[in-house]
Amino acid sequence: MLGVSSSAVLLLAVVSTAMVNAITVNVSETASHPIPKTLCEFGNSGDGGLYAELLKNRALQLVTPGTSAVALTGWQALNGATISVVRESTPVSAALPNAIQVRFPTGRTGNVGFANTGYNGIKVQSSWKYTASFYYRLPTSSPAFTATSFILTLQTTSGQVLASTTVSGISGNQTTWRQMSVDLYPSANAANTNNVFAIQVDAARARGATVNFAMLSLMPPTYKGRANGMRIDLAEALAVMKPGIFRFPGGNNLEGQTVDTRWKWRNTVGPLVDRPGRMGDWSYINTDGLGLLEYLYWCEDLDAEPIMGVWAGYALGGTSVPENQLDPYIQEAVDQINFAIGDPAKSSAAALRASLGRSEPFKLLYVEIGNEVGPSPHVLMWYRWRRFVTRLKQEFPQLRFMATTRVGDPRLDPTPTEYDVHEYNVPTWFAQNTFYYDGFARNGTKYFEGEYAAISNNPNNMWNERFTFPTIGGAVSEAAYMTGLERNSDIVFSAAYAPLIGHVSNNQWTPNLLGHDAGAVYYSTSYYVQKLFGTNRGDEYLPSTLPDRLGTAFWSVVRNKASNEVIVKIANTATAQAQFTFNLPFNTVASTGSLQTLSGTWNQSNTPSDANLIVPRTSTLTGIAKTFNFNAPGASVNILTFVAS
Ligand SMILES: *[C@@H]1O[C@H](CO)[C@@H](O)[C@H](O)[C@H]1NC(C)=O
Ligand SMILES: *[C@@H]1O[C@H](CO)[C@@H](O)[C@H](O)[C@H]1NC(C)=O
Ligand SMILES: *[C@@H]1O[C@H](CO)[C@@H](O)[C@H](O)[C@H]1NC(C)=O
Ligand SMILES: *[C@@H]1O[C@H](CO)[C@@H](O)[C@H](O)[C@H]1NC(C)=O
Repeated sequence: MLGVSSSAVLLLAVVSTAMVNAITVNVSETASHPIPKTLCEFGNSGDGGLYAELLKNRALQLVTPGTSAVALTGWQALNGATISVVRESTPVSAALPNAIQVRFPTGRTGNVGFANTGYNGIKVQSSWKYTASFYYRLPTSSPAFTATSFILTLQTTSGQVLASTTVSGISGNQTTWRQMSVDLYPSANAANTNNVFAIQVDAARARGATVNFAMLSLMPPTYKGRANGMRIDLAEALAVMKPGIFRFPGGNNLEGQTVDTRWKWRNTVGPLVDRPGRMGDWSYINTDGLGLLEYLYWCEDLDAEPIMGVWAGYALGGTSVPENQLDPYIQEAVDQINFAIGDPAKSSAAALRASLGRSEPFKLLYVEIGNEVGPSPHVLMWYRWRRFVTRLKQEFPQLRFMATTRVGDPRLDPTPTEYDVHEYNVPTWFAQNTFYYDGFARNGTKYFEGEYAAISNNPNNMWNERFTFPTIGGAVSEAAYMTGLERNSDIVFSAAYAPLIGHVSNNQWTPNLLGHDAGAVYYSTSYYVQKLFGTNRGDEYLPSTLPDRLGTAFWSVVRNKASNEVIVKIANTATAQAQFTFNLPFNTVASTGSLQTLSGTWNQSNTPSDANLIVPRTSTLTGIAKTFNFNAPGASVNILTFVAS
């Protein structure tokens, strides 16, 4: 009999009933295979999300001057100034042709200037240092501009100043670009994120003058203090899941709608002022501030194995580059890989990395060839795969190259050694497909479940009727599926929920693992499942009685060898509770352990207004023995941990 010491009155009440319909699970003492350290986790991210930059549209990248409403996204004029986006006659860099032009008014008092409203607000904390930087110049020198300093502030939208500093050495004769940088220290925490970052001058000293600004930035502290790094709360939310791998630079977002708008690694490295940005595949402009080098450092900071995508000759709009024109793109991939791992003495891409402060190579084993999931992009994949993989294997025999077609469809030559398999579906699909990999041949080919998520309750219209936030029913079904991935982790070396991060009110796709706004991170039910699996991965798999393929209760048993810690994961995808009897093969079984449970009512979600509706609860397990009973609540994921040998 199993008792639970806290927050589990329900469990105590039910274990006393007869276990007539209990599922018997016999556990084997001998492990069948090790659990790869890479098993759990994910990819993808972006501007206004994982990347810490606080200013939206900071460099006016790719916007059309004159189309003010769109071009000025994120910007507003203050106290009678006028702002517009202009195509600069002498741009700050070849990559950034645009500037934001500020015309200061006459006849005003106080401060005049302009402000950025951030990604739907800016979080202001008194414990943080904010580093502001920008370039400025006057199109023509202006005697009317007698200000010698800019006043930089973080302020509420109603004008209450939270942090203020001045940038001195400003001159009305500055007609060439000059970069200025200064730190801001707020005196108080803001009550909310309705705050802006403002650049102003004393109105009396700027009458009628015009000043252009370019490549503006406001960086808060970043994860592990990386320059140009990641937003701390989101980064930490991901880091505590102990991701084994991180896939970048995204799936569809690698491809581009056209060949020319593909993700080009060279445009994402080096000084920010030299990064043009690109129109991403999720209909917003990518700053590419989060570039190749930042991703590689991020993987290192996470202690996660990178899975790096290279563009493979196919654009989402439907163009497949003809075979006889592929060479430059294959070379681009070779250079990208050399940027990550090459020898600076032998490769100019590696020398570029060294010039950016990193001479030693990064760790890299997996390279993914393109991103092609649905059936239609597979057209002509056979020749692109052959050309890319043949050349890349020649150059980098130590690396593993991953295909992203359906397994065996189309047939690829050379036969892939790794596949990235994607699946978005309804919760019941995941529960009914926990045996998906059991029938796969054990022939050396390995699988990465590179994107998966339960996205809708409606199998007939799932792409249009998607969940806004993951539901507990979806999360429990993903957990059921993941028990199957663990059982098959001799061939499934990694798996990743997708997508990872979405702004709660301004996103292109739902559901996302983590929601966020300018101030907070919201943890979904699926996030907690990923975290429960990631932090209880174990290092070897103990076979046990197989679940009923058509049933609703699924489990897997793993062990941490050194500590003899046995971890039983149970997903109950029924709305009624499931009763289990476990038979353990061990001589010694600790009588107490721990239980982590995530459960709720099938269609419930964590939302910004009820963010902690469903959270894992931890309690002490008592009464564990060679044979013990356990009742899993309806719609629940349960992690039982105890020592046995
Ligand atoms: C579990 O083991 C017991 C004892 O060896 C055996 O009688 C029973 O059939 C097994 N049950 C299953 C489901 O394998
Ligand atoms: C700007 O240039 C004018 C004309 O050369 C000069 O008189 C003035 O002192 C300069 N102002 C500053 C701030 O350098
Ligand atoms: C292994 O088997 C799968 C089918 O289960 C097949 O698609 C794949 O090509 C095979 N791999 C090798 C190396 O033969
Ligand atoms: C969940 O919601 C769907 C509609 O989206 C409904 O069909 C289904 O019955 C609900 N499930 C439960 C268990 O309430």
